[in-house]
Amino acid sequence: MFSLVEAFRQPREWYPSDEDHVNENVTCIGPDDEDFWRGDYVRISGRLTGQVCPSSFLTATDGTVKGSTARDIWMGEGNEEGMLVGIPKEIKDNESRVSTTPAGVTEYVTHGHKVIVERSAGMGSGFHDSEYEAAGAEMIDSHAGVFARADMIVKVKEPIASEYGLMRDGQILYTYLHLAAEEALTHALIDRNVTAVAYETVELPNRSLPLLTPMSEVAGRMSIQVGAHYLQKTHGGRGLLLGGVPGVLPANVVIVGGGVVGTSAAQMALGLGANVTILDISVDRLRFLDLVLHGRINTLASNRQNLAESLRDCDLLIGGVLIPGAKAPKLVTAEMVASMPDGAVIVDVAIDQGGCIETVKPTTHSDPTFVVDGVVHYCVTNMPGAVPRTSTFALSNVTLPYGVFLAEHGVNAFSLDPALAKGLNVFKGKVTYPAVADAFGLEHAALETVL
Ligand SMILES: NC(=O)c1ccc[n+]([C@@H]2O[C@H](COP(=O)([O-])OP(=O)(O)OC[C@H]3O[C@@H](n4cnc5c(N)ncnc54)[C@H](O)[C@@H]3O)[C@@H](O)[C@H]2O)c1
Repeated sequence: MFSLVEAFRQPREWYPSDEDHVNENVTCIGPDDEDFWRGDYVRISGRLTGQVCPSSFLTATDGTVKGSTARDIWMGEGNEEGMLVGIPKEIKDNESRVSTTPAGVTEYVTHGHKVIVERSAGMGSGFHDSEYEAAGAEMIDSHAGVFARADMIVKVKEPIASEYGLMRDGQILYTYLHLAAEEALTHALIDRNVTAVAYETVELPNRSLPLLTPMSEVAGRMSIQVGAHYLQKTHGGRGLLLGGVPGVLPANVVIVGGGVVGTSAAQMALGLGANVTILDISVDRLRFLDLVLHGRINTLASNRQNLAESLRDCDLLIGGVLIPGAKAPKLVTAEMVASMPDGAVIVDVAIDQGGCIETVKPTTHSDPTFVVDGVVHYCVTNMPGAVPRTSTFALSNVTLPYGVFLAEHGVNAFSLDPALAKGLNVFKGKVTYPAVADAFGLEHAALETVL
C-alpha cells in the first residue's frame, strides 16, 4: 500500500462520477464539485485518510488534479496498520443505545485503531463524552462527518433513509440490518458498494446467533412487561393482572417460537404467575424447555390447528419466531386474531423480520400500539431501545470482540472466521446472504466467489 503523500505527488487523472472517484485508489469524500478545499477529506486505497491543508486546495482541471504536492495534504487520520472506527449517534426514533461503550473504545485503541465518536452518542445510555475522550476517542460534532471519515461504522440499528447517502464505497458497516425486511436499504448497500455485516446473521457452527442473543433476551423479558402494561384497562387492555390473585385464574400467555425471545418471555411470565403455553416447530426445543422450566409451562407443536385453538382464550400473545435471515412466516392469521378476546394484547417481537402475525405493522416507541379487531398490537422494531443502558452493555459485550477482529483484519476477517463470514450480507455490490437475495429475487453471490 502506498502512502497518501506519494499518491498526490504526481498529477493524477480524475474521472468525476457520482462516487467522486479520482482513480481507483484515490477518492474524494468531500465536496461534489471539482475542487478539494481546505479541510476536505481525501482517501487512498480505502484505508488512509488525509485532509487538505488550510492554506491549500487541490483542483481538477482538464482531467488532471493540480496543486498536488506533499504539502497540500495533512496526514491527519488513520494509518496503514489501524482502522478508523466511527461510532455515530443512533437517530432512529427513540433509540438511545450506542454501539460501543467507553470500555469498548479503550479496546479498539489498545489494538492500535483510532475511534471517532459523535458528540453525545452515548448520552442516552448514560455515557458522557468525557468518558469517551478519556478512553481515547476523538469526539466530533457531525453525524455525516463520522460516515465521511470512518473506515468502519459500528452502529446499533440499520441505517435509516436519511443515512443511506452517507455510506461510502468500500466502507464496512457493522450493525443490525434485518435486510430481509428492508428492501430499500438492501439496494442502497448494493448501490453504494458497502461491506455490510449484519449482527443478526453472524452464526456459530452450532447454529446459534451470538450477536442476536442478548437483544433477544432483553426483548423477550420486556415483552411480558409491556404486555402486562397494555393488559391494564387504563391502557386499552382487558383489565387483567397476569398472575391473577388467590381465587382468580391467572392470564393466559401464548408464546409462538421457543427460542431466546420465547424462553426469556416464558421465564418472566412464569415469574409473574401467568399460565404459559409455548408453541415451536422443533419438538427438541420444546423438550428442552419442558426440562429447564421444570414442566411449569404447556408445550405445543406449532401448527395451524394448535395455534387457532390456543389463541381463542389467549390474553397475551408473544411472537418470537425466527427463520434466520428470512422474513418471518405469518403463522397467526387475521382470523385467529379476530378470535382472541376483546382487549387481549399482541407483542410481536419478530416484527423486525416482518412479524409472524398477519395483522401487524411496525410501530415506534413514540407511537407503539394500534388496535385490530379489539386486540391491542405492540410492534416496536427496536424494543431494547427502551432500556438502553442494560441493552448497550449487553450488546457491546458480544459485538466488541468481532468488531476488534474486523478492525484488525479488514475484509480478510471473513476468510479467517466462518462465523463472521455468515454475517456478511452485502459485499462488492452483491448480496452474499441467501435469504436476503431470496426475499427480493436478487442474485445470490456465494462468499467464495467474492472474497
Ligand atoms: N423487536 C425487537 O426489538 C427485537 C429484539 C430482539 C429480537 N427480535 C426478533 O425476535 C425474533 C426471535 O429471535 P430469537 O433470538 O428468539 O430467535 P431464535 O432463533 O432463538 O428462536 C426462534 C424460534 O422460532 C422457532 N420457529 C421457527 N419456525 C417456527 C414455526 N413455524 N412455529 C413456531 N416456532 C417456529 C424456532 O424453532 C426457534 O426456536 C427474531 O426475529 C429477532 O430478530 C426483535
